[in-house]
Amino acid sequence: TRSSPAPCARSAASRPMVSLPGRRNRKVVAQRTPGELDAMAVAGALVARALQAVRDAAAPGVSTQQLDEVAEAVIRDGRGTPSFLGYHGYPASICSSVNDRVVHGIPSSDEILAFGDLVSIDCGAIVDGWHGDSAVTFGIGDLIPVDEALSAATRESMEAGIAAMVPGNRLTDVSHAIELGTRAAEQRHGRRFGIVEGYGGHGIGREMHMEPFLANEGAPGRGPVLAAGSVLAIEPMLTLGTVKTRVLDDEWTVVTTDGSRAAHWEHTVAATDDGPRILTLPD
Ligand code: MF3
Ligand code: CO
Repeated sequence: TRSSPAPCARSAASRPMVSLPGRRNRKVVAQRTPGELDAMAVAGALVARALQAVRDAAAPGVSTQQLDEVAEAVIRDGRGTPSFLGYHGYPASICSSVNDRVVHGIPSSDEILAFGDLVSIDCGAIVDGWHGDSAVTFGIGDLIPVDEALSAATRESMEAGIAAMVPGNRLTDVSHAIELGTRAAEQRHGRRFGIVEGYGGHGIGREMHMEPFLANEGAPGRGPVLAAGSVLAIEPMLTLGTVKTRVLDDEWTVVTTDGSRAAHWEHTVAATDDGPRILTLPD
């Protein structure tokens, strides 16, 4: 997750006053070579392994601090570095966002999981200088049907965004696809979902958060072009209620303002000539 940049700051900083000869609006999302994508997939597979270990460890009575220890151990065993730890002072290797927490929940020994909790885990790792970033949502035991629908709708929105990761598409074609994925999920699940305002995905490579910011909704056909090797972290966040959030006094944890539950799914994905390539799959 990145928070969206102030629109004025963004356009002033990134757009020249006049279009330059020979490069009229030809901005492209940074391209990685096939070898670099393979290197990113190594980091991504380690993230996938850490997330699977966290899922396996999550149970009633387990603290989110214990889940953080599980993720960090898997990453270090795989000769990776947890990218979240120390990022702008962030104190852990995962974000654990339970129930009305949307993203950036800080793991704690005081936070004990219980049956029916809706848990989102976000994790990142660096291997050989390359980043992987991925998030999953799951229940502790069985979820009630609306929570199950919320998580499924969020995953389906992510998958719709992934399908738009093809060369020639533009940035907001992906945003639009995510939004259409959410609207299709609303039809399928027979209820409304809130698309969280102010947060979205991002470019990723040798840093976790790179340009461009990827909104989870909006009109198509704008922004830089995707080419073969362009990589984005695609990460929709949906709620059962409001689109509004606030940050707790810990200065990290993002919660819904109405207490409604939220879900978050994320993959790091490359556009390639053979179609979308998910870089955060287990190997
Ligand atoms: N990985 C998150 C994202 O999806 C960002 C985590 S912020 C951190 O982009 F501080 F926790 F690292
Ligand atoms: Co991310």
